[in-house]
Amino acid sequence: MIRTVIIGYGRNGSTMHAGPLERYSGDFQVAAVCDIDAEARDKAQKRFACPVYEDYHAMLAEIRPELAVIVTRSHQHAQMTVDCLMAGVNVLVTKPWATNVLDAQRMIAAQKVTGKMLLPWLPARFGSDLRLIRDVVERGDIGRVFEIRRSVTTFGLRCDWQTEHKYGGGYLLNWGPHLIDQPLQLVKSPITRVYGSLRQIINPGDGEDNLRVIAHTDDGVTVMSEFLIAAGPYPSWVIQGDRGTIIAQGDKIHVHRVQLPDHVGANEYRSQTVETEYTLDVSGNIYGDEYEIYPHIARALRGEEAYFVPLDEALRLSRIIDAARLSSRIGQEVFI
Ligand SMILES: NC(=O)c1ccc[n+]([C@@H]2O[C@H](COP(=O)([O-])OP(=O)(O)OC[C@H]3O[C@@H](n4cnc5c(N)ncnc54)[C@H](O)[C@@H]3O)[C@@H](O)[C@H]2O)c1
Repeated sequence: MIRTVIIGYGRNGSTMHAGPLERYSGDFQVAAVCDIDAEARDKAQKRFACPVYEDYHAMLAEIRPELAVIVTRSHQHAQMTVDCLMAGVNVLVTKPWATNVLDAQRMIAAQKVTGKMLLPWLPARFGSDLRLIRDVVERGDIGRVFEIRRSVTTFGLRCDWQTEHKYGGGYLLNWGPHLIDQPLQLVKSPITRVYGSLRQIINPGDGEDNLRVIAHTDDGVTVMSEFLIAAGPYPSWVIQGDRGTIIAQGDKIHVHRVQLPDHVGANEYRSQTVETEYTLDVSGNIYGDEYEIYPHIARALRGEEAYFVPLDEALRLSRIIDAARLSSRIGQEVFI
């Protein structure tokens, strides 16, 4: 059993992480929980019958766990991760793993120095729609993909720390890890330039609640990721290939395929001749099911499989997020 501690037993720590840790009690033992909030500590103690701490340094020193699951506010992740690694503890850190590239590099440096495992949490890689879409793309059903658009639209208001930059809030860090990283799973070449537009439309605080990030690969694929805080339903994915289009909306994925004419003579125009369509049903969590992911974490910690987020990919994501932030500030595309 992997002796595990949770740091941050709030909305997400007490559900998305505590849930699988509780269910997979043959793999994980919740050895202690740390939260600065007394009510959260009380709930954790009742649920896991384990010691609880207000100070994570004291917990690391006394419990000496094998794994720390860090689910505090976003601006706290980097320092807590470094502290846990330096204390000889493997770390699973929720998204965003870091608020900027410098912090990400600090975390990677601590991982290298200690040789402990650093596992950034990007559950949307297990998104049920993404997996179906990846199969369609890899089969070549829509030909060569040259444009990907991933959109989330809501009219959902929030009023908590996630609306304030000083806590690592703002939707670039809150939603960006899901919405930028997911389409990158469909491209092979590196991102070379990024445009970002971050705006605050309806939420309080000083954080952006509306974002659009356009990234270009060096082999000509354009990836657009957007979170629109005040917009009715858009398709969640539109993927354009030179032989068709994928459109995902709600629980359906429509694949529209065309066969181009064999030959177009000089001064001749011929539109697509043969068109076919099929539809796939999406079931399961489009942001990834934590109960499916945690067994992978157990196997990665035991050295039985590679963890599903290599650190260079997490760093690449931080670079794109930093570039989008800078681009929005200066009003120009940023090369990375
Ligand atoms: N799908 C996902 O991957 C997903 C979903 C939701 C949230 N998250 C991430 O989880 C993190 C937490 O979000 P949340 O909504 O649970 O926030 P939250 O405010 O509900 O929880 C944070 C908890 O950390 C505790 N905390 C603060 N400082 C602490 C300290 N020094 N030591 C110990 N505990 C401390 C707080 O008291 C609180 O209970 C965020 O970074 C967020 O981006 C990820």
